[in-house]
Amino acid sequence: MGRLDQRVVIVTGGSRGLGEAISRLFTQEGAQVVLCDVRDELGKAVAASIVEAGGRASYRHMDVSKVADWQAVVAEVEASFGKIDGLVNNAAVLGGGPILEHTMEAWEHVVAVNQTGTFLGMKHCIPAFQRNGGGAIVNISSCAGIKPTPGAGPSYAATKAAVRLMTKSIAIDFAKQNIRANSVHPGRFQTDMSLEIGASISDAVTEATPMGRAASPREVAYAALWLLSDEASFVTGAELCVDGGLTAV
Ligand SMILES: NC(=O)c1ccc[n+]([C@@H]2O[C@H](COP(=O)([O-])OP(=O)(O)OC[C@H]3O[C@@H](n4cnc5c(N)ncnc54)[C@H](O)[C@@H]3O)[C@@H](O)[C@H]2O)c1
Repeated sequence: MGRLDQRVVIVTGGSRGLGEAISRLFTQEGAQVVLCDVRDELGKAVAASIVEAGGRASYRHMDVSKVADWQAVVAEVEASFGKIDGLVNNAAVLGGGPILEHTMEAWEHVVAVNQTGTFLGMKHCIPAFQRNGGGAIVNISSCAGIKPTPGAGPSYAATKAAVRLMTKSIAIDFAKQNIRANSVHPGRFQTDMSLEIGASISDAVTEATPMGRAASPREVAYAALWLLSDEASFVTGAELCVDGGLTAV
């Protein structure tokens, strides 16, 4: 018995990093996962390797900031599998840097992917959950959505804080409809994004982390697994820090 047997789950940003780790773990626990991303070649390769290992996965191109992409993906997933049980809003970008160097284009891109993308994911999947009698959402925020990372600039922190409160808003509005929504707040873990932020910021975060190390993506993926599974059936509107103690300091 898998912890997500019979579940159909959409994972955004599934082509690499945490989204890939979540997709692999969920399929190992019995889910049918639809990985969505803009990095098509990588995403197709991840889905193919999951299938080769005996899991159930497919890849679909989707820019999370585009309404039409969400409409198409939700319609296709329901047509193919009859329902949607879960959504992991994981896709995100860094960008902009400190405010005095921050361009409008960078600000708008970070907001579009991290904040609008999460909003659109919930807006388009909730009706599918209602048709199915319920569902669960896991939004990947960050420790930076609780306390900002020195030197990382305002846009990433602002969008991750927005994800935190959007999640709680949805949780209370849909609690009586068997739809749960929770956010995960990782500290630093090892992916391409954690390299993009720059060694000096990355090293400072690790140094400030009581456990003194970065996580592996799989350690974070287990938190998403629990929140999406029935083991968390009375958990909604929660923020789960997976950060080696970073936000406890
Ligand atoms: N890596 C860390 O240390 C860290 C720490 C805290 C939180 N997070 C969060 O964890 C999540 C995953 O991060 P990661 O480190 O795996 O990042 P990553 O950059 O390795 O992966 C992000 C994925 O999102 C995809 N993506 C970007 N823009 C997209 C768009 N418009 N539409 C669809 N997909 C898009 C990328 O192509 C990529 O595959 C993010 O929400 C990130 O903010 C990461």
